Amino acid sequence: MENKRFSDKVILVTGATSGIGRATAVAFAREGAQVIMAARRENLGREVADEISALGGKAVFIKTDIRNPDEIDHLFEAISKQYGRLDCAVNNAGLSSLTMPPATKIPEEEWDDILNTNLRGVWLCMKHEIGRMLKQGGGVIVNTASVLGLMGSSGLAAYCASKHGVIGLTKTAALEYAHKNIRINAICPGPIRTRMMEAPMEIYPNMLEMLLAKTPMKRMGESEEIAGAVLWLCSDESSFMTGKELVVAGGQGVAA
Ligand SMILES: NC(=O)c1ccc[n+]([C@@H]2O[C@H](COP(=O)([O-])OP(=O)(O)OC[C@H]3O[C@@H](n4cnc5c(N)ncnc54)[C@H](OP(=O)(O)O)[C@@H]3O)[C@@H](O)[C@H]2O)c1
Repeated sequence: MENKRFSDKVILVTGATSGIGRATAVAFAREGAQVIMAARRENLGREVADEISALGGKAVFIKTDIRNPDEIDHLFEAISKQYGRLDCAVNNAGLSSLTMPPATKIPEEEWDDILNTNLRGVWLCMKHEIGRMLKQGGGVIVNTASVLGLMGSSGLAAYCASKHGVIGLTKTAALEYAHKNIRINAICPGPIRTRMMEAPMEIYPNMLEMLLAKTPMKRMGESEEIAGAVLWLCSDESSFMTGKELVVAGGQGVAA
């Protein structure tokens, strides 16, 4: 029998309806995992589940808005009921600002939406994930931060604050649960060709040029290039790594 890296592992990926989350869900399924996908757009969720079944993989979609604690409770109740365990969780769902206002001009609703999704949503999911992993004796969590969790970017104060917060949350929880066999790391993608980047590029035509000027590899990354790193972080190949951020960004942030 073919030996796959995540055979029979139960894996949750939030934000799996597009971009990085979708590629990550597909990559896990190819490696034999039972994948639970959570996001809001049911039609796309079903589409990804069908794509995975067509590849011979196993996936279910559970409609979840991670800003809503009741929907998160429902997600984890369903996981407990159906699988009784959770080996890995990738807290990836997120959004950015399209209007890119300076820090003092961010509308409160936009600030709340970005922070509630990117930071509070990750924290709410982690509470359930860690609770489940404590019961079963261990597990692995990967939180999707960003290179903008490590530096500032004009027009993206709320996004940068949320992603710096994700890294702080990751490091602290990793310290608190390292001795319980729970590893928690963050992935920090650079510019990746997804809806999150394509939407603002339509509004700001020189954005791509500006991004490439800051990226030594002179190209955007593909979602699959992040998925590969996430799978490594979830695998036993990274078994001595916790509380760290892994930057996958085409060389961004390396130069003095
Ligand atoms: N693309 C980049 O350059 C880049 C760089 C660094 C970090 N990241 C991070 O990577 C992650 C994935 O982004 P992406 O680039 O793949 O963008 P994307 O294609 O827009 O995907 C975002 C995902 O998050 C989900 N989502 C958003 N709000 C949600 C909510 N309230 N509840 C549940 N799911 C929600 C979306 O699904 P629904 O709309 O169906 O809910 C979608 O599946 C984000 O955390 C982002 O900050 C991206």
